[in-house]
Amino acid sequence: MPPAVVEVPERVHPGDAEDQGDEEQPAVRRKGGPADRVVHLPSPEFAPRPSHGPVPSEKHMAAPCRSPHDPGARRILIRMSKNMTDEPADAVESLVSLLDSFDDLPAAAGLRTLSYRLLGVAPGATVVDVGCGAGRAVAEMAELGATAVGVDVDERMVATARRRRPHADVRLGDACDLPFGDGELTGYRAEKVLHDLADPARALAEAARVLAPGGHAVLIGQDWDTFVIDSDDPELTRLMVHARAGTVPAPLAARRHRNLLLDAGFEDVAVEVRTGVFTDVTALPMLTGLAGAACSAGAVTRERADAWLAEQAERGRAGRLFLAVPLFVASGRRP
Ligand SMILES: C[S@@+](CC[C@H](N)C(=O)[O-])C[C@H]1O[C@@H](n2cnc3c(N)ncnc32)[C@H](O)[C@@H]1O
Repeated sequence: MPPAVVEVPERVHPGDAEDQGDEEQPAVRRKGGPADRVVHLPSPEFAPRPSHGPVPSEKHMAAPCRSPHDPGARRILIRMSKNMTDEPADAVESLVSLLDSFDDLPAAAGLRTLSYRLLGVAPGATVVDVGCGAGRAVAEMAELGATAVGVDVDERMVATARRRRPHADVRLGDACDLPFGDGELTGYRAEKVLHDLADPARALAEAARVLAPGGHAVLIGQDWDTFVIDSDDPELTRLMVHARAGTVPAPLAARRHRNLLLDAGFEDVAVEVRTGVFTDVTALPMLTGLAGAACSAGAVTRERADAWLAEQAERGRAGRLFLAVPLFVASGRRP
């Protein structure tokens, strides 16, 4: 069935309002024009939460198409022409900028909203966002009335989150050794984090420990071997995607979300897939990261990677770029 086109409001979350005042402007910003507010989804509503079952449902979300002439797109293209596959000057800054680019998409806000629903975020809920990064989800869950705590293992990321969201409770801590007592929480959330862990199963055991009976865990993440990219050189693309996957500790964690939850004793485990579809320059920071990592891993020469990126940049300019990233959202209930 062709996807319906639904309009989403410019600000779909309280946290977005706060973000307008951030000191650091993210690389990609939504514009106010109607074209920028259109997102393609199969339905304006989220699918009801299935009570059980392994069959994932698939939804697609498309980033709004950006003209190469709009200011956000021009900023990306200028950055691209300067950086290409150069090593980022600062890893945390560069990660935060990339996360901002993604989070600013209305469809990404929809993904966060889905996670809050699955977690039952509301007044009275006590929720942790593990690997909270710059703290956007923590701030949003607190706005919704929950007692929300962010935990991140990186001191500089914690400092960034506290600076950008001074009212959010963000703590330094490890996913495998959370600063909570047994059964203290009603919700556990981890978005784009499990792939960073040497042993994701340990993190899930810790999730089960800190959740009260009836509490919910929600995991969101991409499978690092499943980036779908159109390119004139599919072989090179495959090689680079695979090389990039090899640079993260657990690249296939997302396809294991369901089994990780089941193995940790969770019940009512369900999986949804939402595919981010990028067709313009919005995707270039992600592709730059991919090409840079493939270079650093020694899989391709810098010249080949730069040529590949130049083709992608040209596709972006011409409106012929295609990147699809399935995001796996898994949830489960602690018995
Ligand atoms: C890709 S970022 C995602 C951040 C945020 N969840 C989001 O979706 O924007 C991954 C985050 O997980 C954090 N992280 C990695 N390993 C961790 C661990 N063992 N315990 C807690 N946080 C961790 C990183 O420091 C980083 O901030």
